[in-house]
Amino acid sequence: MLPDFYQFYHPTKMIYGAGLASDFSHELDALNVSNFFMVSDHIIHDLGLLDSIKEGIEQGGYTITGTYLDVPQDASIDAVKEISRLAVESGAEGLIAVGGGSVIDAAKAANFTFSHGGDLIEDYSGAGTLTAPLKPLVVIPTTAGTGSECTLVAVIYDVENKVKLAFSDGYLLPRLAVLDPVMTQSLPPKLTASTGMDALTHAVESYVGVDSSPHSEALAVAAIELIFNNLVKAIEDGDDLEARGAMLIASNLAGTSFSHSMVGCVHSMAHATGGIERVPHGVANGILLAHGMEYNFEECKEKYARLAYFMGQDVSGLSVDDAARKAIQAVRDLHKKMHALGAMPLNLREAGVKKESLEKIAQAAQEDGTTVYNIREVIAEDILVHLKNAY
Ligand SMILES: [Fe+2]
Repeated sequence: MLPDFYQFYHPTKMIYGAGLASDFSHELDALNVSNFFMVSDHIIHDLGLLDSIKEGIEQGGYTITGTYLDVPQDASIDAVKEISRLAVESGAEGLIAVGGGSVIDAAKAANFTFSHGGDLIEDYSGAGTLTAPLKPLVVIPTTAGTGSECTLVAVIYDVENKVKLAFSDGYLLPRLAVLDPVMTQSLPPKLTASTGMDALTHAVESYVGVDSSPHSEALAVAAIELIFNNLVKAIEDGDDLEARGAMLIASNLAGTSFSHSMVGCVHSMAHATGGIERVPHGVANGILLAHGMEYNFEECKEKYARLAYFMGQDVSGLSVDDAARKAIQAVRDLHKKMHALGAMPLNLREAGVKKESLEKIAQAAQEDGTTVYNIREVIAEDILVHLKNAY
């Protein structure tokens, strides 16, 4: 059934190619600015990934006015404010973010005050606060999972109040995303697994969510097929650039999909698990995806049955229920395979969650903003059953 109304807006130009991160300066011509401030972190810097990027940009006649490397694991308000201040002071006209989700989100959020001044929290937190475009932001992801290079959201951690603040606006979408598998080559197996499972969760939840559309569904199934064919390969052999590239593209497709159709109860549970027990986002999603699919089984089984095909399952002659079960089993098997490779905890207990926290997590999941987009109402006592199954 088609939605009564939907829209699809995706102004981010995406370019893909191995080695492209050090050779894309011609793409900057279209942005009409010459000076860029770079945002990254110490890990990326110490891996030597920034040198060739800077060199390529400078050879193209552009200037890097400064670099900020102190983005913490969860992008913080302080880091965002500092990026904005330093970028303004340096005379930059645009931003370049090189990193994972935190670095990209920090640069996206910094772009509010870098472009228009004002106060980050008072003037821009929430949704749709902008009335004019931001300065150009170029993003080079170094993980394949968050899809933040193509989403209209930035999540920033308020350290003082221990809450995550969401900023969302169509203008937050970067102008250019450079997908270069060489940039993810040194990602260790555990991070490859957790970020990959984050991407898979984006795709599955976007596909079955209340705001799904033919556009977002098409992107989601393409992402799911790429992930099932390449995630394990990328974990087993980090130098497999074909698999690395496929994961970057899948993450981008899933990000574009969920930027339009949002995510659901798996993210509700993962946000709660991350907030209360500090389990990394992708790890929580990896453990919880099959359980969240179970939670939505009755409402989503027709869609799961279709997804089973893109997960590489033979569903010929099967009933809807049986084909749908195959999709959930395929997710479980993928998770188990990653566990066998030492890349992912098997359950919440192995991830360090305390049993007595489960009720609190269920309550926080019910209160999470993503529940609005889940096809079945997220009720703490019902979701608790699935959290216990995941323990
Ligand atoms: Fe996510």
